[in-house]
Amino acid sequence: MASARGEFSSRFGFIMAAAGSAVGLGNIWGFPTQAASNGGAAFLLVYLLLAFTLAYPALMAEIIIGRHAHANAVNALQRIAGGPVTRRLGATTGLVGLVVASFILSFYAIVAGWMIAHCLGSLAALVGADGIAAWLTFFSLGRNASFVVVFMLLTIGIIAEGVHDGIERWSSRLMPILLVTLGCLVLYVLTLDGAMEGLKVYLLPDFSAALSPQLIINALGSAFFSLSLGVGTMLIYGSYINDRENLPVVGGLVTGVDIGIAVLAGFLVLPAMYVALHNGVEIFDAAGGLISEDTLIFTVLPELFTSMGVAGAFVSLLFFFLMSIAALTSSISMLEVPVAYTIEEHGASRRSAVLLIGGIITAISLLILLNFETLFGLVVTATTRYSQPLLGFVFCIYAGWIWRRDQLLEELRKGSPEIAGTLFWRIWPWHVRLVCPLIIFGIFAQNLFG
Ligand code: PHE
Repeated sequence: MASARGEFSSRFGFIMAAAGSAVGLGNIWGFPTQAASNGGAAFLLVYLLLAFTLAYPALMAEIIIGRHAHANAVNALQRIAGGPVTRRLGATTGLVGLVVASFILSFYAIVAGWMIAHCLGSLAALVGADGIAAWLTFFSLGRNASFVVVFMLLTIGIIAEGVHDGIERWSSRLMPILLVTLGCLVLYVLTLDGAMEGLKVYLLPDFSAALSPQLIINALGSAFFSLSLGVGTMLIYGSYINDRENLPVVGGLVTGVDIGIAVLAGFLVLPAMYVALHNGVEIFDAAGGLISEDTLIFTVLPELFTSMGVAGAFVSLLFFFLMSIAALTSSISMLEVPVAYTIEEHGASRRSAVLLIGGIITAISLLILLNFETLFGLVVTATTRYSQPLLGFVFCIYAGWIWRRDQLLEELRKGSPEIAGTLFWRIWPWHVRLVCPLIIFGIFAQNLFG
């Protein structure tokens, strides 16, 4: 049954797909800029600690539940529930998760569209097509809408091909390209004047900034978003893993790649900002903090690239290409969540499910673009700040309290017969039962009332 619904053919394929989902726009600019303005290496330490104590255990909960059920989240949560109330709550959680995944994709496609437009814009600038380059890099409804459609067509095209020929094949191709591109950019930027200054900011710890409660809460939130948790993406990818796979090991590898790439991106973005400063570009905002997020990506970095002449155009091309790839391997995992549900629970063919849902999400993206000022921030906040932690909380409750412990152990034993004697089994069940829900509850309460 498992292979009839698609299965990853190898451990490498799964790790590329799941790491591809995890490594996204959040890692490459969110993490480095947050680290820069929040105590450098001290933030890095807090982030690493949280990634392994919260995000990894929560990731394991999703992967194990998914692999056990070999089904989408709606079905999987019902299957591990004991009674009618928990079954209904499980189905509702799965459904809310797929709606949230779709809304995350609707704003992600807008940002990813900008990345592709800037990538093509750099190409146009390189060949001297300045008019086209200007249109591609200037914020306009026409450009934004066109590139939402382009990006969604790419996402739809990959998901229409299925688990093995679409997700696995494309993640296995794109992730190594991403890594090499990132590596080359880091090496190049580190040779430029001013880069060492950025490196210092990144690597010298300032513990007074990193230990503030607000900051720890922020680091938690980003660790959670970064590993694509709460909306059923990791659950559905887990459902495509074969029964012989050792889950704690593959989950650990995915977490490692995600964190590794975020840390590596810090070696690019921070030095690049100080190279920009060295070249006369303003990198601090009115309050004296480092400029971050969209202003950084679409103002500071392009100005930096311009100040670097022809080499800058190449670097710009590579940088936005990197961002586009990172976005695509994440967006396919978001679209797979509602698509898998529609195929499995409503008997649709993959092709029609992908076209229907991809079409609806594209329409939502266009609607957001038409009301950008009001809707964009709202959708981002509602999905990533509130829904993801709350849904993640429910997943941990299902893995820690509702699912029978003997069935959970049996599931883990399939790929790792000695699991009962391992440190993982001694720590993780308690951790996911008590520590994770408490921490997530803390983030949620802080977001709501803080
Ligand atoms: N992890 C992705 C990133 O860092 C975002 C994501 C969130 C992907 C939720 C899938 C689901 O950009």
